[in-house]
Amino acid sequence: MNEPPRGRQPGTANQRACLVCGRSGLTEIISLGRMPLANALVTERNLTEQEKTFPLDLAFCSHCTLVQITESVPPEDLFMEYPYFSSYSETMVREAETLVARMVEQQELGSRSLALEVASNDGYLLQHYVGHGVKVLGIDPAANVAQVAVKKGIPTIVRFFGPDVAAELRAEGRQADILHANNVLAHVPDVNGFVAGIATVLKENGIAVIETPYVKNLVDGVQFDTIYHEHRFYYSLSALTKLFERNGLAIVDAETIPIHGGSLRVFAAAGSIEPRRSVRDLLSRERDEGLQSASYYLDFALRVELLKDQLTSLLADLKGEGKRIAAYGAAAKGSVLLNFMHLGTETIDYVVDHTPYKQGRYMPGVRIPIVPPTKLLEDMPDYVLVLAWNFVDEILAKESEYRDRGGRFIIPLPEPVVAR
Ligand code: TYD
Ligand code: ZN
Repeated sequence: MNEPPRGRQPGTANQRACLVCGRSGLTEIISLGRMPLANALVTERNLTEQEKTFPLDLAFCSHCTLVQITESVPPEDLFMEYPYFSSYSETMVREAETLVARMVEQQELGSRSLALEVASNDGYLLQHYVGHGVKVLGIDPAANVAQVAVKKGIPTIVRFFGPDVAAELRAEGRQADILHANNVLAHVPDVNGFVAGIATVLKENGIAVIETPYVKNLVDGVQFDTIYHEHRFYYSLSALTKLFERNGLAIVDAETIPIHGGSLRVFAAAGSIEPRRSVRDLLSRERDEGLQSASYYLDFALRVELLKDQLTSLLADLKGEGKRIAAYGAAAKGSVLLNFMHLGTETIDYVVDHTPYKQGRYMPGVRIPIVPPTKLLEDMPDYVLVLAWNFVDEILAKESEYRDRGGRFIIPLPEPVVAR
């Protein structure tokens, strides 16, 4: 198979301007070549059409320390029919429940309080505030997932959040005591406006809880498959601090959490407030480990190539022995991994996924069919490649019968292993 055309070599300067601070001279980290949109699952009807591909290159801004992709795809193309329903992961729902209970207690929230969630998805988080008697409002641009939330009794505005929505809510007296934004800060193109909007919509003593994948886990864990067009930005605490400061928000507390392969969770308030020690400690750790300079990112591309060699050889060996291989989780990251490694139906028979919306569709680019997980026990493939590796514990526990009957899982990252 032909190699996709690659961009510049790691370490070379890029004339594009940083999307957040506007300075030019980004440093190239890795080029994944041209890729289809990772969430654009192909329907039966569209199988005959060639899908669009876009260059996928990652770069580092040495001025504001932000890692970013350099190609933009209009947000309308990306999110109007978002196929991801948070409630299909028990891990996500349970984490949300714990976090909500903690915030209700810490912020003394009650029936007069308003909890706002940006990118509220199917209401997997806000439903827990409803349980505590707190008023809720979701904001999500994807009409199909918002509908699911509304059916559960969670009012949801179907729009992209930004300074306009924030100003409208403020003018209507609907400011937030607590605001959540999980796994969305990586996606928004106008991230300055987004953060400024959060500052606008928070009440004076309100707090924003923001979670986003941590760039340290991307680099150290060779999580290259979390790089895709929908993810514009890859944050360190250092980059977040600069971004927030510029837009009137102060980070008061910070922690790292295991969700999505390792994320940062920051607590922020409007204005300038003295941060807790947790913030200073994590910032100095990042400084010690070099996350604020380009050199930290430069051997990443080599490590990704090595991983590609290891995984494709392992799968080719298994195929050579006549083994049958399936995959688990029609995640966007799965699409990136399969396309980058050129793994199609010659290697992987099908991808299983619990999400009804995804079943009957095909993985973008490589066109592998997506089927319900019940197929595993019916068909008993020899190996299952875990594409949704961020949920590996949940998946292995759920599929204990497949394992008891001799089925084996392959975990691709940070280096391929066959789980016992
Ligand atoms: P996820 O890794 O959350 O998203 P991304 O698309 O950002 O890479 O996607 C996980 C996928 O795995 C999602 O389609 C749901 C699916 N899944 C199952 O089908 N069954 C499961 O038990 C779990 C945990 C996930
Ligand atoms: Zn910058």
